[in-house]
Amino acid sequence: SGEDGYRLWLKYDRLNQQSITFTNYVPFAQSWYVGGHSATSKAISDELEYAFNGLFGKSHRVVQQNAKLVIVYGADATTLYPQHARQLSRLNDEGYLIKIVGQGQKQKVLVLANTDIGALYGSYALLRKIQTGTNKAALNLESQPQTDIRVLNHWDNPNRHVERGYSGQSIWNWHKLPTYIDQRYIDYARANASIGINGTVLNNVNANAIMLRPDYLKKVKALADTFRPYGVKVYLSVKFSSPQLLGGLDTSDPVKTKVQQWWKDKVAEIYQEIPDFGGFLVKANSEGQPGPGDYGRTHAEGANMLADALKPYGGIVMWRAFVYANEKNEERSKQAYSEFKPLDGQFRDNVLVQVKNGPIDFQPREPYSPLFGATPNTPMMMEFQITMEYLGFSTHFVYLGPMYEEVLKTDTYAKGQGSTVGKVVSGGVFPYKYTGMAGVSNIGMDRNWTGHIILQSNWFVFGRMAWQPDVSAEEVAQDWVKMTLSNNQKVVDSVTKLMMSSHETTVNYMTPLGLHHIMGTGHHYGPAPWVDNLGRADWTPVYYHRATKDGIGFNRSPSGVNSVAQYLSPYRELLSNPDTTPEKFLLWFHHLPWDYKIKSSGRSLWDELAHRYYLGVEQVANIGEQWNALEGLIAESQFRQVQMSNLIHLQEAKWWRDACMLYFQSLSGKPIPDDLAKPQ
Ligand code: GCU
Repeated sequence: SGEDGYRLWLKYDRLNQQSITFTNYVPFAQSWYVGGHSATSKAISDELEYAFNGLFGKSHRVVQQNAKLVIVYGADATTLYPQHARQLSRLNDEGYLIKIVGQGQKQKVLVLANTDIGALYGSYALLRKIQTGTNKAALNLESQPQTDIRVLNHWDNPNRHVERGYSGQSIWNWHKLPTYIDQRYIDYARANASIGINGTVLNNVNANAIMLRPDYLKKVKALADTFRPYGVKVYLSVKFSSPQLLGGLDTSDPVKTKVQQWWKDKVAEIYQEIPDFGGFLVKANSEGQPGPGDYGRTHAEGANMLADALKPYGGIVMWRAFVYANEKNEERSKQAYSEFKPLDGQFRDNVLVQVKNGPIDFQPREPYSPLFGATPNTPMMMEFQITMEYLGFSTHFVYLGPMYEEVLKTDTYAKGQGSTVGKVVSGGVFPYKYTGMAGVSNIGMDRNWTGHIILQSNWFVFGRMAWQPDVSAEEVAQDWVKMTLSNNQKVVDSVTKLMMSSHETTVNYMTPLGLHHIMGTGHHYGPAPWVDNLGRADWTPVYYHRATKDGIGFNRSPSGVNSVAQYLSPYRELLSNPDTTPEKFLLWFHHLPWDYKIKSSGRSLWDELAHRYYLGVEQVANIGEQWNALEGLIAESQFRQVQMSNLIHLQEAKWWRDACMLYFQSLSGKPIPDDLAKPQ
């Protein structure tokens, strides 16, 4: 069948001719105009042509005077529509206005922007409104991104293996580049542009220096040229020891002139090929990667050297805060803050520090990283994982929107109440020069791009939340379902509901009540809470759950390792006491006896743990049942793909439950509560 997931949310299937959406919008498809002559303006026309032919079976571009849909930008917009010039002038370069003006035969839709890229975003927004069956009257829109840098991070290696990728090989075919431009590259750029993603870091943070070699830069240039019309800038991850590995120098010490010069020359070479190159992403002194620490220099000294080289061209550095080492005499969750908080104010103004949402590592649930809100002078850039390293790879039905939302809406109290993480990230708490959000991509060569149709929604919601950190995860889920699966109300309601509870469901059968890092060693797939012999505590499950016959959980309160001190009041006090700690983080911050009484349910901790594990499995079974009830309402091939994955999902939820219950029971010595201990 044609519907195997390749087209993502840009399906544009034919609308029913009797539908209100068809009747309402068909006049615009038959009479549209796009101003300008740039490559982006052509990309807009191509998209409209394709979309309107799909949706309406007809599309007709006309001269501007006759058009019922007018898409113009820059001077064209303000000259033709001076009445909207003021509103336009308040928007940034990427923003857009959509207006519906006039009545009856004279009715027009205007998409206005300051630049061609803004017009591109506005056009995709208009198409989305049509795809989701929006009433014409609701078409007055004004939108602009709230963060500057909205990038995917590909953990793709030059040999096409994707670290933590579960959707096939890397989509970058380095062998055939720069000459062979796969249609996928264009479709990738379209998909990103449609949700506002404006950059991509092509290669793994565990970087291979080869990417900076002249022959590879030609390949990178070919991708940059392909993406440019869609507003997607190219960035590279760089290895800090490149001056030695590629340049033959005897050091990569950032204070040495020859090292600085090597980077300056390399950056000049890059900009010769790619005049709008975005900049560098760096993982340094983390998990064995080289960095300034090798020479006794700070992260700021390392980042600033690169920032100085990029500055003349407008490039930026995204320096990762994911640093920890077992040798350090400090608990892992505290290390990033300890390292970076004192450096606040020492970074150049074209450096952003990119920090994972939580203080450990993309666990199914973590409290937010206390670095958000802690650095008035250093932009903290959010790093979310879209790929599902700790969340079931590409077999579990998990929509991450609610998880991102939970993090972004949490209050840091950095400048009093309302200083949410989302506001910090978008520069609304401290006036950062640059702001950004990165998502570790789940894209691969699989026909459906992400290995599981539902997981396409995580790419989608990442883009939407990077554009607007306070957008509702539910609204985005609805849009995605309508655009990807069906506009049928039963499908929309039922799938949105399943998506919205799916993250909590996964937390229930994997790591309820704040448990974390109890996955299989190395691969991180499936349960392994019993592993106790890795030789380093910070990778060892028993170190994180700390279960014994007396109780379970990690005491990070003031009587323990006191990571709560890194949070601001009043959150800090809340987390210091188990009775006021949100239950979802209970065992993250506290070690408690098995018979500790859980407030919300009145159950003992042991019984509550059991209840959550069992509930998680029931919820996964429910996903399967609800999904099966949609047979016939969703394209057969999409329906079957998800149905088959649901079977794996259920098996694995049971695996998690049974493994964890049996193991923890071997310590607690307590029985599975009667109401659960029935045959499953
Ligand atoms: C995790 C992940 C690694 C990755 C690292 C990082 O530890 O397992 O594969 O390299 O995060 O974010 O740098």
